Amino acid sequence: YLPSLIAIVLSYLLGSLSFAVIVSKALGMADPRSYGSKNPGATNVLRSGNKGAALATLLLDAVKGWLPVFLIHHLGEPYGLGTGTAALAGLAAFLGHLFPIFFGFQGGKGVATAAGALLGIEWLLGLATGTTWLIIAVFFRYSSLASIVAAFFAPAYYLIGGGIAWPLDREVMLALIAISLLLIWRHRENIRRLSAGTESRLGSKAKT
Ligand code: G3P
Repeated sequence: YLPSLIAIVLSYLLGSLSFAVIVSKALGMADPRSYGSKNPGATNVLRSGNKGAALATLLLDAVKGWLPVFLIHHLGEPYGLGTGTAALAGLAAFLGHLFPIFFGFQGGKGVATAAGALLGIEWLLGLATGTTWLIIAVFFRYSSLASIVAAFFAPAYYLIGGGIAWPLDREVMLALIAISLLLIWRHRENIRRLSAGTESRLGSKAKT
């Protein structure tokens, strides 16, 4: 169990790197926790008006979800690390993003990190979920709504594709359900704003 435990702890630490804060600081920009939705995530960094910083945040937050899963898949076997540990590592990176040890446990909502983890688990699953996000985002122009809908569909896609595109794994299924539930719970303020009609649309900048 020791290699699994080490892999999971390292994944959590990697996930704890809040790239919205790190990238903003590196570029001399305001802290994303101080404007817009106050969320340290790519969507909120985009509200600063700096598209490059938002893209860098998106990619880096996704890579930290993808990398541990990918590494365990490809290098884990000699250490007895299998698909179950890979899924748990993805969940650990996601939890690191939500509750980062380096940032007082005040993290983000985990959308990019979950997307990266999905891509690492099954690239086709990541692609299907990402496409779902994109379709909702293009039609409704709400990042949060797209994230909530995509989170809802990800475990369903995994189940549907199981046995056809990939072998179904119980631990992967449970990790996906946990990620989806936590992700939707982290969007509870967005859900309130969406139903009140006050959620900010993609492309609109922060006022302060
Ligand atoms: O990345 C999280 C996104 O779904 C919502 O972000 O800043 O609009 O709360 P935000």
